[in-house]
Parts: sequence; structure tokens; C-alpha cells
Amino acid sequence: MSDTSFLTLDKLSLAYGNTVAVKDLDLDIRKGELLALLGPSGCGKTTTMRSIAGLMTPVGGRIRLDGADITRVAANKRAVGLVFQSYALFPHLTVFENVAFGLKLKGMRGAELEAKVASGLKSVGLAAFADRKTPELSGGQQQRVALARSMVMEPKVLLLDEPLSNLDARLRLEMRTELQRVQKESGVTMIFVTHDQVEALALADRIVVMKNGAIEQIGTPEEIYNHPVSSFVADFVGFENIFAIRDGKLVAGTGEVFLSGKLPEAAGLAWRPRAISLGSGPLKGIVRGVSFAGGTREYVLETPLGIIKAEVDAALPAHALGTDVAFDLPVGSAAPLKRFG
Ligand SMILES: Nc1ncnc2c1ncn2[C@@H]1O[C@H](COP(=O)(O)OP(=O)(O)OP(=O)(O)O)[C@@H](O)[C@H]1O
Ligand SMILES: [Mg+2]
Repeated sequence: MSDTSFLTLDKLSLAYGNTVAVKDLDLDIRKGELLALLGPSGCGKTTTMRSIAGLMTPVGGRIRLDGADITRVAANKRAVGLVFQSYALFPHLTVFENVAFGLKLKGMRGAELEAKVASGLKSVGLAAFADRKTPELSGGQQQRVALARSMVMEPKVLLLDEPLSNLDARLRLEMRTELQRVQKESGVTMIFVTHDQVEALALADRIVVMKNGAIEQIGTPEEIYNHPVSSFVADFVGFENIFAIRDGKLVAGTGEVFLSGKLPEAAGLAWRPRAISLGSGPLKGIVRGVSFAGGTREYVLETPLGIIKAEVDAALPAHALGTDVAFDLPVGSAAPLKRFG
């Protein structure tokens, strides 16, 4: 555990009966940090969150929060808030009553309660909606009520499990900004689960990429985006052209592959489509797909290495479907991968 760690998961193992969902997970989260958990379906994101919230007892390892071991502390004594994808608001209660619910359970009443709920609603921009019933709100507004309801409890950690996945694209973007603002203003430590790499990159201070119940990589959005450690992470963050290196050579469909530059000591190399140089180079492909994407044109090439995806400035002359095109995979523009697979 590092000195700066506020929430520590130490060799955490979680299982459903005989099914191990999370294995020996180590994670240090700093106070005030916004951490995103990113990974494919079934990799253990929700399970990890449930254990932090106290809804599931670990089969191994410990959880520490703010200096105390909370591994076996009851959920309602942990000061951990949880917001799910389904907001689980009480439909028969007003917005005010929904946000006041947990505070009332704690015995808060009168002017103190009024002020607390009012300030919670104000912080999510819903001051004018206090008297509405929750089914009379939009999806984004309901999600904000759920956020306010958790925030007023002043949790030490707020867990959000895919809170934006029920919202349409525009609302998602709005709520993303809103979440970031609320988190920065309140300074609450937040763990945010998402499938969506764009959301994770946009929101998080650090991203944890999970695979099969274990951590594949932890880093800042820049580190994850630019320096994926493995082909799994590279694939997840949009490197479309990913190759293994074996015996000092790029593993490709057929024949020898000539690249400009010496291959580094790595298990593989990954190129984003825009890192491919098209129009010249030692490699040849046939244009099998071309689509205009505003500022750029996206190409699908059939090559001896398999399918290559390239993205180039749309101002450059287009290569027509079915024509031959020369290209290069510049080694200097590739991300070297420590692990392949
Ligand atoms: N109640 C359960 N009983 C048995 N196995 C479960 C249960 N809930 C989850 N699992 C299994 O545990 C593993 C992790 O599930 P989890 O819900 O944590 O995944 P996730 O990363 O949140 O996925 P998603 O992105 O689909 O929400 C999966 O293999 C899943 O099938
Ligand atoms: Mg889940």
C-alpha cells in the first residue's frame, strides 16, 4: 500500500460459488481521485464495485478505506455511495423526498434536512424540480437525482456503475461534464465503471483496464491511450493494426515484412489507423473500403499482413476502391507492446 492511498484493495479475490470473478486484485486509489474501471463485459467491474460497497464478502484479501479495514464492515456503515445504471428512485416520492430519504434514515430533520437537500439539488442543477415526482423527469434528470441522493450522504467514496449507459448520446455528454464538475467541486473520491473507452479517457484521472478478473493496466488517460502494455489494451483503445513480433520479425499472413525502422524489443507493435502512411512505402495493398469521415478518409486495405486500416487527411487525393496502393508501417509511429494476447 502506498502512503497516498485512500482506498486500498489488497489481493482481493471475489467469487460466486465456485466461479472466481476477481482474482488477487491490488489497487490503490488516492483521495479525491476519479478512477475509471474499463473492460469488456464479464471482466469483473461490477463485482469489484459490489465488494467495495459491502454487498459481497471477499473470499480473499482486504479492503481499506481512510485508514480503517472495512473488509467485514456492513454496507450501511462504510460511507460508500453507489449509483447504478438503473437509478432505482422511488417513483411515488418527489425529487426532494428521494434525495432526503437516506438523510432521514440517519435521523436528520427540519431546517438542516431542507438545507442539505436543497444544496444537493442545486449542485446537480435540479433546484427547480424539488416537488416533481421522479417519473415526470427525463432520463438525465433522474440520473442527476440519483447522483444528488448519494452525494448528500457525503460518502468517502462514490461508486458509479455505468451511470450513463441508459442515456442518449447528447445527454451522456452533458451528464459526463456534470459528473466531472460535481466531482471536482465536492472533491469526493469516485470510481466510475464504463464499457466506453471515450468516456473513460474523457473523465478519469486514472484508468484501470480489467481483463478476466484481473488488472491489465493502470495509467493516466494519456498513458493508456498512447502506451498500451498489451495487445488487449491496444485493441480496447482503438489501435486497429496490431501485430505480434516473433524471432525479430512482425508476424504477418505471408512472406517477409519490410518495415522502415528497426523493430524494438517488444512482444508486438500496434499502429492507430492515422499512424499508417499511405501512398508510398515498401508495402502494397488493395483498397477494399474507403469512407469519407469529414477531416479524414478511412481506408480498409487488403495486404499480405491481413487487413490494414488507415486514416489519412481528406484533403489528399483519394485512392479508389480496387486500386493498388503503397503504404508503410513506420516503426517510429508504433506503440511497442510488452505482452501479446
Ligand atoms: N450473481 C452471479 N452469480 C454467478 N456468477 C456471476 C454473478 N454475477 C456475475 N457473475 C460472473 O462474474 C463475472 C464478473 O461479472 P461482473 O458482473 O462483475 O462483470 P462486469 O465487468 O460488470 O460486466 P458488464 O460490463 O457486463 O456489466 C462474470 O463471469 C459473471 O458471469
Ligand atoms: Mg457490470
